[in-house]
Amino acid sequence: MPDKVGIGVRDDVGMGRDAMIMAQMSLEYAEKMRRDWDERARSNARHYIADGKTEWSDAEFRASGEATVAEDILTDMVNICQGKNPRDMRVLELGCGAGRVTRAMGQVFGEVHGIDISKEMVAQARAALAQSPNVFIHHGDGLTLNALGDIRFDFAYSCCVFHHISSYEVIASYVADVARRLEPGALFKFEVQGCTSLKTTVGDTWLGVPFSEQQAREMAERAGFELRYHVGEGEERFWLWCFRRGE
Ligand SMILES: C[S@@+](CC[C@H](N)C(=O)[O-])C[C@H]1O[C@@H](n2cnc3c(N)ncnc32)[C@H](O)[C@@H]1O
Repeated sequence: MPDKVGIGVRDDVGMGRDAMIMAQMSLEYAEKMRRDWDERARSNARHYIADGKTEWSDAEFRASGEATVAEDILTDMVNICQGKNPRDMRVLELGCGAGRVTRAMGQVFGEVHGIDISKEMVAQARAALAQSPNVFIHHGDGLTLNALGDIRFDFAYSCCVFHHISSYEVIASYVADVARRLEPGALFKFEVQGCTSLKTTVGDTWLGVPFSEQQAREMAERAGFELRYHVGEGEERFWLWCFRRGE
């Protein structure tokens, strides 16, 4: 990492050289994430999305999304809706893949937006969700939510996505981006890798960086969230309940 490179040196437009190097590295990493996930989507999207099985029928894949929503969302409506009617809520799924969970979210919430870095995944999700008029799938740049324009959300969710990102900076930047788009008090429920003994390497697109509770809390606070609850500290699936601060 270029943490000692060019600190304090500024170019003509005022960006520090170390920041420029970080930005360039992020762009190169985003390109690699896109290539790798496009390749996975082409070879067997459903297997890479939910690796419990190699072959999934449409019905099984749909049922697995419904099971995820039943487990992660329908059991948690007090935190997620905070008194709102889910049909009046606009929600985001970050890293929506082929629309496995997005479809099931569309059966619960009024308007659902999914975003993913992989064009192939996006194409599969759009095809699968063509009959779901309240679900919108966006192709993102892998680093930001800019593709969403200025849409704001009442709830955001992400599962099995940050597990695959080997850069703390990219994950933290996404978390901050979600915070800016959530209504005050709203929840971003997501999971990260919690097994801190796990080693990944820079540029890996399968094994993501692990978070301790302290790292997760600091990331949440910096982004403007309160990390109110967490489950699975030290485990592969470390779930975080981050509530947007502010009135
Ligand atoms: C294991 S799949 C999970 C998909 C979906 N969340 C689900 O559970 O059905 C991981 C997804 O994250 C997406 N992804 C990986 N890195 C990403 C990034 N930097 N930005 C957005 N999406 C990303 C991949 O393209 C892939 O669709």
